[in-house]
Parts: sequence; C-alpha cells; structure tokens
Amino acid sequence: MGPTPTVVAVSGSLRNESYTRTALKYVLDAAADAGAETHLLDLRAYDLPLYDPDIDDQGDGAEVKRIVRDADALALGTPVYHGSYSGTFKNFHDYCGWDEFEDTTVGLLATAGGGSYGSTLDHLRITVRGVHGWVLPHQVGIRSASSKFEHDADAIDERAFVEEKLEERVRKLGRMLSEYAFITPDVHSHRTPATD
Ligand SMILES: Cc1cc2nc3c(=O)[nH]c(=O)nc-3n(C[C@H](O)[C@H](O)[C@H](O)COP(=O)(O)O)c2cc1C
Repeated sequence: MGPTPTVVAVSGSLRNESYTRTALKYVLDAAADAGAETHLLDLRAYDLPLYDPDIDDQGDGAEVKRIVRDADALALGTPVYHGSYSGTFKNFHDYCGWDEFEDTTVGLLATAGGGSYGSTLDHLRITVRGVHGWVLPHQVGIRSASSKFEHDADAIDERAFVEEKLEERVRKLGRMLSEYAFITPDVHSHRTPATD
C-alpha cells in the first residue's frame, strides 16, 4: 500500500441545487471507496473577489490556493455556460496557476442543460494543460442534466442517477483520480541515443 492520496473537487456552479456539485460528490464518493481522502472545495463558502493581479491574496484566495496546492488530484466540474465553463470556474482558475497545478492529476466533468458539453470539456483540458496539470483521458459530460437524476432519499444529495451507465462513468472518474493521483516517473525503457 502506498500513501493515501488527497482528492479535492471544485465546482464552477454556485447554484444551491447544482447538478455539477451533486455529480462531483459521486466522484468523491468513488475516490473514497478507492482509498483516497476527499474534500469538496465549495466555492460558495469562500470569498473570491474577481481576480486582480495587483492585489496579493484577495479575500480567501490564499486559503483556496493552499487547498488546491495540497491536493494530489483534482476533480474539476463546471456547468456549461455559453458553450464554455462558467465565470465562477474561470475566476477560481485565475487564482490557481502553475504553483497549484504542477504535478497534480486532474479529472474533468461538465454539466449541460442542453445537449452539448464537448467544447466546455475541451476548454477545461486546454487551460489545465497550460498550468501543467496532468489531465486524465477519461472525462464526463452530462447532457440534459435535469433529466439525469431522480429523487432517492438514500442517495447522495437525495439524487440518484437515472442511467446506471452514466453513474459508472462518473464513479470511474473518482476511481481514476485516486489510482493515478501520484505522477512518479519510473522509466526503465531503453532509449536510443540521438544521432545527428
Ligand atoms: C449563463 C448560462 C449559460 C448557459 N449556457 C448553456 C449552454 O451554452 N448550453 C447548455 O446546454 N446549457 C447552458 N446553460 C444551462 C446549464 O448548463 C445547466 O442549467 C446546468 O445544469 C447548470 O449546472 P448546475 O446545475 O451545476 O448549476 C446555461 C445556463 C446559464 C445560467
């Protein structure tokens, strides 16, 4: 057994009844089942003013950055807003750059009211690569989110997935975040010397 990974989830929706947050809780539940310590970084609980590079550590910026820096793996979720991620997510991301993401495994999830989430996941992947996060190939898009959950008093947030396959995709993200939380180079393959 290796060290216990810490998996942190961040949601780009501030909505009280957010489907993104519920889905991320399922991700964390699966990560915990796979042996991780988990934490939901709920942006509603933090004062994050619009990022201003002229001001060091605005509001709770320093605390949010510390939590992200200390994570071994991150689950990033956002609602689809105008074909991209939400302003809330972007503002969080502007606080967190190379120092927070370097050597961090990242899993992506996007929740759409309509049918299309591809561009949102692509935008997330590109910006996270830009700050040197290690983005998992597996990602989750939830379309028509309001039709994907049904009331269940025993379920997370009292919401159960209607489709078993979708729940499995969501849980797989959590499992993979736990399994791939530590990026440790271990190269044994033979390298052919470069010739000119
Ligand atoms: C400002 C805004 C823009 C949105 N743009 C899109 C969109 O481009 N495509 C889409 O499918 N849904 C769009 N939606 C719907 C949200 O993606 C949908 O309600 C989602 O489930 C919200 O996630 P949440 O439940 O986590 O808050 C938009 C909603 C808002 C408030």
